[in-house]
Formats: sequence, structure tokens, C-alpha cells
Amino acid sequence: MNHPGNPELKAAAWTAVGVARPHESAELHVLGQAAYTDDIPELNGTLHAALGLSAKAHARILSIDLEPVRAMPGVVDVYTVDDIPGTNDCGPIIHDDPILADGVVQYVGQPIFIVVADTHTNARRAARKAVVAYEELPAILTPQEAKAAQSYVLPPLQLKRGDFQAAFERAPHVVKGQLFVGGQEQFYLEGQIAYAIPKEHKGMFVQCSTQHPSEMQHVVAHALGRHSHHVQVECRRMGGGFGGKESQSALWAAAAAIAAAKSGRPVKLRADRDDDMMVTGKRHCFFYEYEVGYDGSGKILAAKVDMTLRAGFSADLSGPVATRAVCHFDNTYYLSDVDIRAGCGKTNTQSNTAFRGFGGPQGAIAIEYVIDEIARKLGRDPLDIRRLNFYGKEERNQTPYGQVIVDNVIEELTAELEQTSEYRARRAAVEAFNRSSPVLKKGIAFTPVKFGIAFNVTHLNQAGALVHVYVDGSVLVNHGGTEMGQGINTKVMQVVAHELGRDIAHVRVTATDTSKVANTSATAASTGADLNGKAAQDAARKIRQRLAEFAVKLHGGEVSGVQFHADAVHVNGVSVPFEELVQKAYLARVQLWSDGFYATPGLSWDAKTMSGHPFSYYAYGAAVSEVVVDTLTGEWKLLRADALYDAGQSLNPAIDIGQVEGAFIQGMGWLTTEQLWWNAAGKLMTHAPSTYKVPGISDCPEDFRVRLFENRNVEDSIHRSKATGEPPLLLPFSVFFAIRDAISSVGGHKVNPPLNAPATSEEILRAISAVEAAS
Ligand code: MTE
Ligand code: HPA
Ligand code: MOS
Repeated sequence: MNHPGNPELKAAAWTAVGVARPHESAELHVLGQAAYTDDIPELNGTLHAALGLSAKAHARILSIDLEPVRAMPGVVDVYTVDDIPGTNDCGPIIHDDPILADGVVQYVGQPIFIVVADTHTNARRAARKAVVAYEELPAILTPQEAKAAQSYVLPPLQLKRGDFQAAFERAPHVVKGQLFVGGQEQFYLEGQIAYAIPKEHKGMFVQCSTQHPSEMQHVVAHALGRHSHHVQVECRRMGGGFGGKESQSALWAAAAAIAAAKSGRPVKLRADRDDDMMVTGKRHCFFYEYEVGYDGSGKILAAKVDMTLRAGFSADLSGPVATRAVCHFDNTYYLSDVDIRAGCGKTNTQSNTAFRGFGGPQGAIAIEYVIDEIARKLGRDPLDIRRLNFYGKEERNQTPYGQVIVDNVIEELTAELEQTSEYRARRAAVEAFNRSSPVLKKGIAFTPVKFGIAFNVTHLNQAGALVHVYVDGSVLVNHGGTEMGQGINTKVMQVVAHELGRDIAHVRVTATDTSKVANTSATAASTGADLNGKAAQDAARKIRQRLAEFAVKLHGGEVSGVQFHADAVHVNGVSVPFEELVQKAYLARVQLWSDGFYATPGLSWDAKTMSGHPFSYYAYGAAVSEVVVDTLTGEWKLLRADALYDAGQSLNPAIDIGQVEGAFIQGMGWLTTEQLWWNAAGKLMTHAPSTYKVPGISDCPEDFRVRLFENRNVEDSIHRSKATGEPPLLLPFSVFFAIRDAISSVGGHKVNPPLNAPATSEEILRAISAVEAAS
């Protein structure tokens, strides 16, 4: 059946990308029908595992009596380090991460043994019954202590440009100080979980909640002493990862697989929330010491910062996190003479790991803190000082690590937000309010963001995909990325639908599976849609090319003139329904499925000199927040937030706006209410929502204006879009600095409030007292 018409006209109008569409699972999420790992029907004979945890921060294990564990109801077996068939390690880079403690424990919560029982509850009850005798060793808990003891998990990093010392000595003004910014629990709603099923001939099938199925495959294979081809890992979706399932899903996958291999039965290991928080690492807290020189206009002339991260007991991803922190200290500012250092302090606490932003937020907040301070010292609006120091376009455009910035839009973006947020008028209104309000004080702040997109480890910037077109014309896509709620599958579906001219209803994405796409990178560094979108586009284009050649064989014309849109193929003035062409192509033995691959071009990084071109491009943004603080109680409220984010030519504006809103509130939680607190014995006491306060709906501002900045990626990214996953997490710096502004008003803006993060009510009161005392 041929369809005449005007294909050119339709082609111009037809697009599956750049349009707002609901998340592919939105309906399932709302109906409670989206299946997470724990919802997968359990096989007959499934055992449930629980981990026995260390009660000491640093100790030698003298003896472990597991008989009381074995005696508990339902217990089938208990496994210790001696039962691991292969390597006792789940470290992603450095192999210093035991699955089960071997003679020594290094933090409260470190797993020592695995117990398997008939039910989840029986396993957990039994796990508490072990009698472990410890010989306690000295423990280091804070980054400051680690620095004093020169205790590091990796050699310290240093990035220098120019001559800091000389520039600092020449500078007319200087600021020196210290800052502490706390860590953050990922608080994914779905906790860590793995379900391991033994298969024939040494096979092991692991379904788990992970951002990195390939890494889970490697770790499980090593732990079992088997090869990668024996292990298959699948993840349909996560109920959030936020970086916490980039490397640290490995412990759970490995423990479940070890228990499954030893027992010969399927084993499910589902972490209880408290265990999850006690065992797994979080965002690194940072301790900073800085010295900055500037001139009378507020221009920074020299900057030195020494950052100490709380790495925890092992390296995990702390090296790349510290590298990203070093490479984001500049944020949107040109810093001519710098000395940026970072040390990954080894502490007897959970091994800290990836968390949305991956050190970028921690690097950038330090320079924002300094600029805030400079502005106050000069009696100027901080926005003016920020602007003065912005990167230029043609000059002052090279980062300290050598990458030349070619896509700088921070000035235009700032100008737009300054206007739409009515920043200047609201600043005046805030001042007027404060003059007549002795107890409640308002504050406002404008903060900019620049964030580098790409894994800062070059080889990770690759992805693969597999696209099948079935004979009925339906399309099945598999790619190496994982869905954690961020909408990667929706975006990849749009990309494939666009290439094949299909309505998105005909495209389906299946679970991420190591047996379909091999050697994948973590879905991380905000690159998921960038990399996997390109790989899926590559696969779809190969199929389209074959179909176009076939269509020309049937109908004549040029292959380059064949168009795919609106569920039809338009060739030589004829329109053929997609299904019809596909059926004919199948009978003619045309291959209707294809793989696809993508590797981001132009990247380089020299870890020794800390220089190169680590990022494909930069994403930009800015936000204005206005708060009111009760100076008697330290309580506060975010009254209004305006955010403008550069998603390039957004693949899906609805999803991107959702990402910006989510990241904003998550970052606000990090900087305000979310406090991790370890007691003197090194036990994390904030290990449940009762004591660890993540933002709730009532913490969201009533007036929340999130918009996307009109832009187009100068790099050839997928449809010229830009990543959105992590960079907006830096936008709520504006909330922190608005709170600082309100506190500062107590002292007539003459004193810099010594405000650390999180700015809890106690911290706010402490800073107010300090300002009052100094005024
Ligand atoms: N959004 C949701 N809903 N859930 C998540 O776990 N993780 C964030 C971000 N947005 C996350 C999220 C993190 S840490 C990253 S790196 C990116 O999503 C990863 O996805 P992408 O690269 O596909 O954007
Ligand atoms: N982000 C997330 N994970 C990573 C990165 C990064 O930049 N580099 C290496 N692993
Ligand atoms: Mo995101 S921290 O890179 O998983």
C-alpha cells in the first residue's frame, strides 16, 4: 500500500526528541506496578541473607563464636572470609576493600559474616547473636585527625598554575580561613539489594539494584573464582542510586553470590535501612584551609586551597572524587595563580563514595564561600564580585588544568536570571524588611554553576547498545545504561524512535543485562544519556541505512533521500508503512537488528600533571534563593527559588526540569538539614530517617521557578543536548549563601558568619552568636 503526500513537510515537523514526554515508567511508578529487585517473584528454595557487622571502629578480631547464630530459628548456614571461593575484595580501583573482614575491622558496621536463613527476619535476628572478641586499636574519625596523622588512602593531589605565593604576597587584600562541609547519605528510596541464582555449569545470575552491572559481574566473578562469562547481572531499574550504587552495590551482589554458590540455592540479600546506612559510604565531607589574595575591586589574584576528604577506611572512588573536586574549585571563575590540593584522609568510618556531583559540589562551594567573604569585606553585592571574576570568552578562558573553555554562556545566563528573578529589587526589599524586623531576618543569594561533563577517567567514556526491529515493526532497545529514575530509558527511546521515524509507543527498552551489552561503564558522571543515547543512535542508524537501501531497491530513488517519520518510510515519492517495509525486508533476508557503539572524542587526562582535556563540554546554571531565618531558634524557610539551567537542546524538557528540581532539593538537604553524626567511638548515630533529616515536600519552596536556558551544545552531543543529572545539585549553594546573608544582617553585614555546612538550626545559632560577639 502506497501513501502519497508530502513527505518533506511531514519530515520537517516530525520529531521524537526535544519534546516533553512522561517518564517511560511514570504510570507504573504511580500504580505501584514498576518492578524493583525485591518485587521479582522468588524461586522455590530461596534463602535470605543478612550481614553480621563490626561493633568496633578499629580492632583486631580475636575470636568469633558463630554457634549462637547457627542455633537461631531458620538458620541454614553462616559464611566468613574463609568461605569465599575467590578473592575477598570488592574495591572498584584499588583492591583494599574486603567483602568480609579478615582478622581486622576498620569501621563500625563493617561486614564480618553472612548468615542465610529461611526468612529475611530470621536471618537478621540471627546476625545479631554472634559473639566477637575484639582487641581495640586506635581509630581516626575525622578528616582533620587524618590530616594531622598524615593518614591517607591515596597519595595527595596537587594542581598548580602560575605562582600562587608571589601573587598572594603582591595582593592588596587577603582572606584566610577554614571551612567544613559535611557529607551526605544517598538515601535512595530502594535500599541495596541483590538476588543471586546459581545456574548450571558454574553460572551465576544476579539481579541487583546497581548503577554498574559490568562491575558487579567482575566483582562476583572474582569473588567466586570464576570468569566473567559465568556471571550474568541484570537490573531493570533502581529506586534511586545517586552514586551510592556505582561501586557500593558490589558488596551486596558479592555477598549474595557467595552465599548462593556455597548453599547451591538462590539467595536474596536485602539491606535494612539502618544496615544500609551503617555499612555503605556516603558523600565525602570536606575540611578546607584557604588563602586568597584579591584587589580593591574584588578580583581574585591568587588562590590556595587545601582540601581534606573523609575517604573512610578504603580508597573506593575517592581518587576520582578528589580529582573532580580539584577540577571544580574554579567553578565559573578564572583563577590565574592557584595551588589546589586534595588529600583523601583515611578514617575508621564507612568508605565514602560517589554521590551526585562526585566531588564537584565540594570543590566549587569553597570558592563560593571565599567570594561571599570578599564581597562582605568590600561592602559589595556578592553577585558583582562573582561576575567580575567570571571566565572570559576569548581570554581568561583556560582552566587551571589546561582545558580551554569554548562554550561559556555564564554571563548571558546570569544576566537573564538576574532579570527574571528580579534579583536587585528583591535584594532591596530584603534589606528594607531586615531594617524593621528584629528577630526574623531575610537573606538572598545568587550563585552560578559550571560543571564538566565526562568521566574524569577517559576510558570510561564509552557505551554500547543493541537495537532489534522485530518483523511486526516493534522496536526493542537494550543499552549499557541503567535506569535509576533519571529518565535515561525515556531519552534513549526518544532517540531511537527519532532515527526510525517511529512513534515512541512502538519502542521499548529492556533491563540492563551484561549478557546483552558487554564491558559497560557505570551510569554515572551524568553521561548516561549522552553515551548510551549516541550508542543507541548508532545502532538505529545502521538498521535505518539497511532499510533505506532496501526501500530504494523496491521503489527506486536515492538512499540519501529516504526519510523515516510518522511511522512510515518515504522513498521516491512513495510512503510505505514502517511495518510493511520491515516485513518485506525480513523476507528479503535483511538484518533487522544491530549493535551500536560510542566513545566520546577529544578527551585526555594526565593524572601525573593533573592536566588535559578531561571534559567533553560544560553545563551551566544559576539560581537565586531567598530565605527567612528566625534568629532566636535558627529555624528557616526557603521562600522562593529561581533556577535557570543549561540543558543545551534538551532531549526531554519535562524530564530535565524534574532533574533540576530534584537535584536542587537534594543539594539543599545536603547543605542544611542532613547531618551525619558519629559518636566518639566511631559509630554512626544518624542511621535512619528518625535522626537523619532529608528534605520533605514541606521544605520545598512554595514559589519554585525552574527554567531551561535556551542553548545548543557546541559539541556534537546527542541532538546537541547537555547532561542534567548532577550539575543542578550545585544550584542550592544559593540557599546556603542566602542563609549566610540573613545571619550576616545581624551584624550589619560587617562580619563574615563562620557558617559550616550543613547549616542546621544549631549551626545557624552558633554562627549568629559568633557574629553578635564580633559586632
Ligand atoms: N535522578 C533520579 N531520579 N535518581 C537517581 O538516582 N542519580 C543522579 C542523576 N539523577 C539519580 C538521578 C546521578 S548521581 C547521576 S550521575 C545521573 O542521574 C545519572 O544518570 P544520567 O547520566 O543518565 O543523567
Ligand atoms: N563521575 C562518576 N564516576 C566516576 C567519575 C566521575 O567523574 N570518574 C570515575 N568514575
Ligand atoms: Mo553519579 S555520583 O556520577 O552516580
